[in-house]
Amino acid sequence: MEDERKIEPAGGVFRTGVKIPGDKSLSHRALVFASLAEGESEITGLAPGQDVATTAGALGRLGMQRIGDRFAAGERIMEPDGPIDCGNSGTTMRLLSGSLAAAPFRITLTGDDSLLSRPMGRLVAPLGALGLELSTRENGTAPITTGEASLSGADVMIDVASAQVRTAFEMAAIQADGPSTIDSPAGYRDHTERWLEAFGLGTTGEGTKMRIAPGRIPGARYDIPGDPSSAAYLWASAALVEGAHVVTPGISLNPGRLGFLTILEAMGATVHGEVTGSIHGDVIGTVAVTGGPLQAVEVFGDTVAAAIDELPLVAVLAAYAEGVTIVREATELRAKESDRISSTTRMIRALGGGAEPTEDGFAVVGTGFLDGGFVNAGGDHRIAMTAAVAATAADGPVTVLGASAANVSWPSFYETLEAVWSSR
Ligand code: S3P
Repeated sequence: MEDERKIEPAGGVFRTGVKIPGDKSLSHRALVFASLAEGESEITGLAPGQDVATTAGALGRLGMQRIGDRFAAGERIMEPDGPIDCGNSGTTMRLLSGSLAAAPFRITLTGDDSLLSRPMGRLVAPLGALGLELSTRENGTAPITTGEASLSGADVMIDVASAQVRTAFEMAAIQADGPSTIDSPAGYRDHTERWLEAFGLGTTGEGTKMRIAPGRIPGARYDIPGDPSSAAYLWASAALVEGAHVVTPGISLNPGRLGFLTILEAMGATVHGEVTGSIHGDVIGTVAVTGGPLQAVEVFGDTVAAAIDELPLVAVLAAYAEGVTIVREATELRAKESDRISSTTRMIRALGGGAEPTEDGFAVVGTGFLDGGFVNAGGDHRIAMTAAVAATAADGPVTVLGASAANVSWPSFYETLEAVWSSR
């Protein structure tokens, strides 16, 4: 069948170092910052997948100029001759709905079937408080239209720990005619807040409240660090094999990205992190993970937001851990590229493990084995890649249907995973 990939069980203890491609969250943000900046920006190490290309393409259509690594906002935003297609990328849609709020015309943002089913209504109230009449379909999904707002400062509180919603608000708020604040539950990745603060456009103070001072983002240089959400597949693979070891230098160590490392440690892997630098106030470092015997964990609270994209991997680790692993307070999983409560538990069952969806998460029984089998990625890159990682320790091959979904975040993922295994 087309677009299916059979991954043979890896076997054996590997020890290796891997350079991970650029961080997706920071890549989207660097492009959006450059599109609003006064002066030229330089971005190196952009994430290689389709999602970030989608943001770059959309901003190009709207007038941002690019020569190689150099980017400049055009004289003015160009009116597109039709809807902007955000593909599979929720980050593109949410960040642009805020950054384009002050455009002098309405802009329609659309996407693929998965994106058209994801919640966009959560943007309406916070951006509305700034003066944007964002329109969505009746059920709060895209296509949405943005732009034509006269923005004034506002103070808002949102009830999800969503970095995307916070960033959308902040990108609009810096273009408003007065200061704003936004607050939310904790655990979100605060990349945008750190960069805005570094550029003198806001202060985080204490806790989760961000103050935004309107102004222009300066042209800047962004050397994008490696993506911890990509590295996570290799960390998980090492964690599945006692004594296996993987080192990943130059990774974003933003606290909102570290939930999975906290979980790995609690499950029994050895994790070493070392800070080696930063990018506009956002920490970068080396992470090494060594596999050990795994035990079940309970995941809830702030850790959920800080590990949100890695929770499918937790389910695979849980199958090999002693005890029953429970992930709760994680209804946000239903709002991702697939309903990841359902797709994650289906994946574990398809591989011969024991998993149950719950109202707000899932439970996985640590049977100590997975048989292998067929997993339908259902268009979700993280399910495709997680299923491939399961082959690290599975008894038989894992066949991923729709394996090319990985292209949205890491096109060379399968080759990298197999190269890591063959370093044993
Ligand atoms: C992201 C934030 C998270 C995450 C997504 C990327 C970002 O989503 O799941 O993959 O770059 O801000 P939410 O903001 O909806 O939690």
